[in-house]
Amino acid sequence: MDRYAVVGHPVSHSRSPRIHALFAEATGQILEYGLLPADLDQFESAVSQFRAEGGKGLNVTLPFKERAFALATSASSRAKAAGAANTLHFKNGDIFADNTDGAGLVRDLTCNLSKNLEGTRILLIGAGGAARGVVQPLLAEHPALLVIANRTPGRAHALREALSESGAIPPEWLDRCKACGFDAIPEGDYDLVINATSSSLSHEAPAIPERVYGPRTLAYDMVYGKGITPFLEIALASGAGRVADGLGMLVEQAAESFLLWRGVRPETASVLQRLRKEMA
Ligand code: ATR
Repeated sequence: MDRYAVVGHPVSHSRSPRIHALFAEATGQILEYGLLPADLDQFESAVSQFRAEGGKGLNVTLPFKERAFALATSASSRAKAAGAANTLHFKNGDIFADNTDGAGLVRDLTCNLSKNLEGTRILLIGAGGAARGVVQPLLAEHPALLVIANRTPGRAHALREALSESGAIPPEWLDRCKACGFDAIPEGDYDLVINATSSSLSHEAPAIPERVYGPRTLAYDMVYGKGITPFLEIALASGAGRVADGLGMLVEQAAESFLLWRGVRPETASVLQRLRKEMA
């Protein structure tokens, strides 16, 4: 039986085995998907052992996404743009790296949440790994403006510069992409405010101004399974029209990985619905 797993540290909390089991059931694919815990200094050896034992592919979660990309022998353009991989595919002696996080987010926003991003104003909070992987896919939807705002402004500027230098943000998109600290977020409210920081994991909210929210705003927290996070709570209290957590992004990025490995794209709406019920 073809074997897959999610590798991370920690990884025991991961919903990916459940999601892939539901995908396999729905598409009639026969496969095994498990958890691969790896100590911080043993990521590379855990991957090579899994591969040596016949493993076909891995999902990669924190904190190994950059190391997964470095390990690959070839990579998709979206993994190159992010400089990180959440999916590895072992095929014909090759280690192929992909990054399906950005596509997963965009699909959740546009399909599940019916948010058309063209011509919109997007505020992306954070400048770490989670933000890095979604800048290019968001810009590819042609928003009027994408602001990367970070608590430490220098990191936001560095991210924009790095993505520009690597070609992930082409020169003609640069004027639509701005970087700043929380106190310099351009005036006006936003159609979409995305929390790509790790603040929700420590039950905190990024200290962004309330004025970014309005009735048309969708506030989106990339974390899932935490209910209404402090970020979402403040967004609602400040007038955001809608809020969403990152469970849809998780399911959609998993579907993209499944497609890469198995050549079939599973239907996601029913899986998302089922997962929400199970987690409630
Ligand atoms: P990840 O890969 O999950 O993005 P990271 O690279 O450590 O993790 O980045 C964490 C991000 O969350 C950073 O943007 C960090 O802001 P700083 O660069 O200023 O540290 C942000 N972050 C974490 N806790 C935060 C908080 N309470 N308020 C605002 N931003 C926070």
